[in-house]
Parts: sequence; C-alpha cells; structure tokens
Amino acid sequence: MRISKHWILALTMTILPLLVAFNSGTVAAQEGPISAINNPNPGAELWQAVRGRLDTPATTQVKGHDSAVLVNQQGDQWTAVRNKELLPKGGDLLIVVLLIIGAVYAMRGPVTLHAGASGKEIDRHSVNARFVHWFLAGIFIALALSGLILLFGRPLLIPLFGKAAFGTLAYGAKNVHNFVGPLFPVAIFLLFFNMVSKNLYEKGDLKWFAQGGGMFGKSHASAGKFNPGEKILFWLTIFLGIVVSVTGYVLDFPAIASWIVATFPEFTQYRHVMELSHVIHTIIAVLFIALVFGHIFLAVFFVPGTLQGMVTGKVDENWAKEHHDRWYAEMKGSAKGDA
Ligand code: HEM
Ligand code: HEM
Repeated sequence: MRISKHWILALTMTILPLLVAFNSGTVAAQEGPISAINNPNPGAELWQAVRGRLDTPATTQVKGHDSAVLVNQQGDQWTAVRNKELLPKGGDLLIVVLLIIGAVYAMRGPVTLHAGASGKEIDRHSVNARFVHWFLAGIFIALALSGLILLFGRPLLIPLFGKAAFGTLAYGAKNVHNFVGPLFPVAIFLLFFNMVSKNLYEKGDLKWFAQGGGMFGKSHASAGKFNPGEKILFWLTIFLGIVVSVTGYVLDFPAIASWIVATFPEFTQYRHVMELSHVIHTIIAVLFIALVFGHIFLAVFFVPGTLQGMVTGKVDENWAKEHHDRWYAEMKGSAKGDA
C-alpha cells in the first residue's frame, strides 16, 4: 500500500511537466509558430541588400566600378550560359564543320587541273597583299588557338595534362590573347583597303553560284580575280572581324565598358556590358573559326595550286585559266574573258 503511494507520486511528478509542456506547445501551435521562429530574421534585409534585391540601390563610400554591387546576380546566369550553352554548342559546331569538310573531301577529292600544270607562271598576289594576308592569318591563328584553349581547355586539357600544366598553358594563352588581340583590327583595316576593290560584285558572280562554284559536275564556273565564294569570305572576315574586335576591346579594356555604362543608362553595371560582350565575342569567334577551317581546307587541300599563289605570289597559268578565267583574260589583255 505504501509502495503504491510512492509510485503514484513519482508518476505524477513525471507526467505533470510533460502534460504542461505538451499543452503549452499545442497552444503555441494553435496561435502560430513558436516565438523564436516568429521573430523576423534580422539578417534578411541585410542579405537582400547584399544581393541587390532592394528597391533602394546600395550605396558605399568605396570608390570604383560597381563597388556598391556585392553579389552580381547576373554573373551566375552568364556563367551558366558560358558553360552550358556556348561551350558544348561551340564544340559541336566545330566538330560538325570538320566532319563535313572531311566528307566533302572524301566524296569529291581535290579539284585537279583538267589540262595539268602548264609550267608557265603568272603573277597573282603582290608582296603587299601577301604581307597583309599572312599578318592577318598569323594574328588570327594565335587568337584562335589561345581562345580555344581558354574556352575548351578545362574539360579537354586538364584530363590530359593535369591542372598544374594546364594552369601554365592557360596563363600563357590568356596573355597571348590579351596582347595580340588589340592588333587584330589593324589587320582587318589593312585587308579591307588592300583587297576591297577586287571583292565587289561583278557580272557573272550570280551565275557562279548557280553553277555551285563548279564544285559538282564537270561544268566550269567562270570567275574574276576572286570568285564569289572568296568574296563572301572577304566580307565575312571584315564584319566578323569588326565584331570580335569591338567586343574583344571591351573585354581587354574595362574602361570602355564603363564609358558605355556612362553613355547608355540602360546598362546599369559595367559588368553586364562585359558579360554581354563576352557572349557575343565567343559566338562570333567560334563561327569565325569554323569559316576559316573551310577557307584553309579549300586553299590548301581542295584546290591544289592555290596556296602557292599566296606564298610565292605566282600561280600556274592553267590554274588561272581554269579557276579564274575572267581575271586570266584581263591579265593577258583579252576583253572577252574566253581564254
Ligand atoms: C579572330 C579573332 C578572335 C578569336 C577567334 C577570339 C576567340 C576568343 C575565345 C574563343 C575566347 C574565350 C572565351 C571563353 O573562354 O569563355 C576569347 C576571349 C577573349 N578575347 Fe578573343 N578572340 C578574337 C579576337 C579578340 C580580340 C581582337 C581581342 C581584343 C582586342 C580579344 C580579347 C579577348 C579577351 C579579353 C577575352 C577574355 C579572356 C578571358 O579572360 O577569359 N579577342 N576570345
Ligand atoms: C593557314 C592559314 C591560311 C592559309 C593557308 C590561307 C590561304 C589563302 C590563299 C592561298 C589565298 C589566296 C586565294 C586565291 O588566290 O584565290 C587566301 C586568300 C584569302 N584569305 Fe587566307 N589563308 C589562311 C588563313 C586565313 C585567315 C585566318 C583569314 C581570315 C581571318 C584568311 C582570309 C583570307 C582572305 C580574306 C583572302 C582573300 C580572298 C578575297 O579577297 O576574296 N585567310 N588565303
């Protein structure tokens, strides 16, 4: 009997606090979240300000570009576009272009001269023209290689050479790109003035397209000094060259981006200008590289005898007759163009 009294007392002492706690919890649950959670997070507004989500723009006494921007939201979007869109799609495009070139070469083979080489040569490209071309080509190749290392290096080269070696390579590529880049518009300028007169529309150019440039079948496509395909290469080089140069200068010299922000208020941060420039730069650069793949293939492998003209300045007369008959006729002083 005595024992059971003790048990009842012990049981009451245990259950009572539990009941009280449970009861107050239920009441609190009925009234809303418990008081600690109910308190607004004192840091919430701070973090909204840090992320730039408040209506009132952040202010700071620190002087410098975007110093009031602590977290650049758009930067995340830009990183995603670069890594998830530009990188895989750029890589796919270059691979597809190389496959098409390989397939065309395998199906059609090199365009050899019907009459064979004549052994007689004719002047094709002046020293100036060759200098301008190789100046442009040298700069382009340096920029394309260094740019491709920067773009695809991480996924492609780190597994091959390791991080340390890639770090050194990427550092070199970045410096080559940053310092050689500013010369590119000079090359574009020289190319334009050196070759524009030979790259304007001439009668007969449309017919050349209709004949597929003489690439398929046996029909010969009549052409002047440069055929319409080359003229397209010329004009694309000028236009794509201007776009990569302008966007490249913005990336190389951030002062240009701050000038754009000061002039065009719709750009709120100079980093937005740089992100936009980077995306345009990379898209155009990859298209440009694909175009040049095609050009090098045609000049070196597909139409034998063409490269020689850009190296020595002279081409075989039969090459001139078969590929650029109107120009050959002009050179030989015939107005008819039926040489
Ligand atoms: C034909 C010409 C050019 C090609 C093919 C080219 C290609 C590229 C490529 C593929 C990238 C890499 C983008 C990335 O890693 O996300 C890049 C970045 C860049 N390019 Fe060019 N570019 C060319 C011209 C120029 C010019 C003319 C300039 C400067 C005047 C320039 C300056 C830059 C800069 C500063 C970067 C950013 C490098 C970095 O910090 O990652 N580029 N370019
Ligand atoms: C290894 C690289 C290159 C080789 C072997 C090469 C070869 C040639 C050759 C042989 C010609 C003369 C074609 C003819 O006589 O009809 C030529 C012309 C030309 N090349 Fe290149 N080239 C190279 C790189 C480049 C690059 C990188 C560009 C542009 C960025 C370029 C743009 C041009 C232009 C615009 C012409 C003149 C076409 C015209 O004015 O209609 N080349 N190239």
